[in-house]
Amino acid sequence: MEASFLMPTHVIHGAGVLAGIGSAIAAMGIRRVLVVTDANITPQPFYVAILDALDRAGIRVSVYDGCRIDAHLDEVDEQAARVSAGSLEAVIGVGGGSVLCAAKAIAIVARNPPTFRACAGVARFPHRALPMFLVPTTAGSGAEVSQFTLVKDDANGAKFVGGGPLSFPTIAFLDPVVLAAIPARLAAISAIDALTHAMEAMFTEFATPLTDGLAMTAIGLLMRSITCAVTTRAPDACADNLLGSAIANMACGNARLGLAHALSLPLEARCHVPHGIGVGVLLPHVLAFNAPEAPAKVRMMAAAMGLKAGDGDAAVLADVLATLGQLYDEIGFPHHFDGHFDKPSSLREIAEAALPGLYGMAPAEPVTASSIIASPNIRRASVEDASALYAACFESLDRARI
Ligand SMILES: [Fe+2]
Repeated sequence: MEASFLMPTHVIHGAGVLAGIGSAIAAMGIRRVLVVTDANITPQPFYVAILDALDRAGIRVSVYDGCRIDAHLDEVDEQAARVSAGSLEAVIGVGGGSVLCAAKAIAIVARNPPTFRACAGVARFPHRALPMFLVPTTAGSGAEVSQFTLVKDDANGAKFVGGGPLSFPTIAFLDPVVLAAIPARLAAISAIDALTHAMEAMFTEFATPLTDGLAMTAIGLLMRSITCAVTTRAPDACADNLLGSAIANMACGNARLGLAHALSLPLEARCHVPHGIGVGVLLPHVLAFNAPEAPAKVRMMAAAMGLKAGDGDAAVLADVLATLGQLYDEIGFPHHFDGHFDKPSSLREIAEAALPGLYGMAPAEPVTASSIIASPNIRRASVEDASALYAACFESLDRARI
């Protein structure tokens, strides 16, 4: 089977790299940019330092600091029109996954007007996005190295993905200084999102030895750094957490994502479950669901987590799940939705809403319990399977099925 691997984004990482952001962008001949961020970021000393560095490099800056949770279709289209009207040459995103998704979508629509709606799907727009320079301020989404961006359409409450080889970020700046002051809960949710990217990337039909190698490296870095990064903010651990998040996305950006992300989508859109909690609570259940289909991958994952080889497939899986559960406890991450979010009146309805999957495939008609969720997940899941996975996530830990 033919496979390809894309990773054209220039990654600059390490303590202090943000000091060079102005000169790096100016060296490309860029002089007018839109900075996309949110109101929590603008008072931060590192943000002020970024603006200083851009000013010193002779770069004129327009700012959009209205980003909220999720990138929203209306703001993306409005800001893209602003970029075009002002002949701005590039977009700089400074923030978490929602901000970076907004920045990327704006850069796409600025070259492919008038709306991101028309760019939805995989590789559905003809022109290369504007240059993008991204500074992640959480260690989680890996959006800074991803060709894809996730946008919410408030008119119908749905989220959809857009992107392709023409929308890779130009440079990602990974500086652990940005993690020094983020709330512990946000740090934990972001870190588990990153770990989910790495683990899911190993269980898709597009996974290759190349993507598995990256995913395993990311899993190792993240398992060793997350607890320390979340609880103490030690700079070395924060740097590993940031780099692990980016590497995880290099893996899943090529191998794609599996069921945890596909099934989280309707929970996020309809029940307002934060993305990282949605995918992280689903993750152990999805790993257990996938394990019979790919026991060798579970062993590889266990090795990446630093676990000794267990005796038999069931023991290896149990070790993996126990270690994951221990990590969740160490950083205060929930094991289930029970007590955190209201259980939807119909899990079957949520499962049917998951049918198009993360990449927006149209579900076959008519929908039945055996209809398959559109996903490159290594094991096919029906609406009935998805309903059972959701049910397990809404059960208390002592009744969980894993
Ligand atoms: Fe994610």
